[in-house]
Amino acid sequence: MSYLACKDLISMAQLSVDDIQLILDTAESLKDISERDIKKVPTLRGKTVVNFFYEPSTRTRMSFEIAAKRLSADTFNLTASSSSIVKGETLTDTIHNIQAMHPDIIVIRHPSTGTPHLLASQVSAGIVNAGDGINEHPTQALLDMLTIKEKKGRINGLKIVIVGDIAHSRVARSNIFGLTKLGADVTVSGPPTMIPVKIEDLGVKVVFDPRKAVKDKDVIMLLRIQLERQNKFLLSTLREYSSFFGMTEEIIQYAKQDAIVMHPGPINRGVEINNSLADAESSVILEQVTNGVAIRMAVLYLLIGGQTSDNMH
Ligand code: CP
Repeated sequence: MSYLACKDLISMAQLSVDDIQLILDTAESLKDISERDIKKVPTLRGKTVVNFFYEPSTRTRMSFEIAAKRLSADTFNLTASSSSIVKGETLTDTIHNIQAMHPDIIVIRHPSTGTPHLLASQVSAGIVNAGDGINEHPTQALLDMLTIKEKKGRINGLKIVIVGDIAHSRVARSNIFGLTKLGADVTVSGPPTMIPVKIEDLGVKVVFDPRKAVKDKDVIMLLRIQLERQNKFLLSTLREYSSFFGMTEEIIQYAKQDAIVMHPGPINRGVEINNSLADAESSVILEQVTNGVAIRMAVLYLLIGGQTSDNMH
């Protein structure tokens, strides 16, 4: 089995079509480990994974830890508030101190765009971007793509709409890079204040009206309003957003009959998605979470364990 020819996973923009296919195929082959009675293989025994999260996280942080443990790596978790950053230590000094303990991978989430890229050039450990500001969240896009591929059998040629706060969404950017590379027809929709100028340059269409945006789509991907990243007043109230863009069964009727509804989480019921739609049969939100473990196992394996395919299973 081959492995990724890079030390770090910083962005979907850096990955080739072959890289993406390799990660998706590897995740598919690793997925059954999580369904066994004994959910552990020795693949990454002796490897060390540090999860360093500057922002809150439920899914990403837990699934990286579970993924590493299922591959027998040793895992350690650090948050900014529990680290010596609160005593004035800089991020650079912190990361050099972590490097001095010889981890193999540092998974980092940070509110500033570019932080994982900066750190990757400073340490020999692999850096995995678990979300940097409004920039990218590559493993989220990969787990979304795995879910789409499982549900639809392909990505090439599918009509996919991403609805919400596109301007502040690292999930949207990573998905746009990944999905367009694999040949999907991607549309974005949301309030004009939340759609970046010239986003068409990334190869997507913009349709503001949610009913027109959803029409004939195979996949409806919903996003949370990223209030914590908005430094301007981009909408009057969440209720107003919900009344125009909140996804309901009435709007979904415009999509293909077998369309799936996705959301990276955390969901805000009654804002970007109504309560019953979040739990409807068309919703694959929890399957995305399940696939998050498989994708993160694949990424860790391909970055630091690709040489040891003999003990993958
Ligand atoms: N989708 C996602 O990144 O969720 P968390 O913020 O809970 O990790």
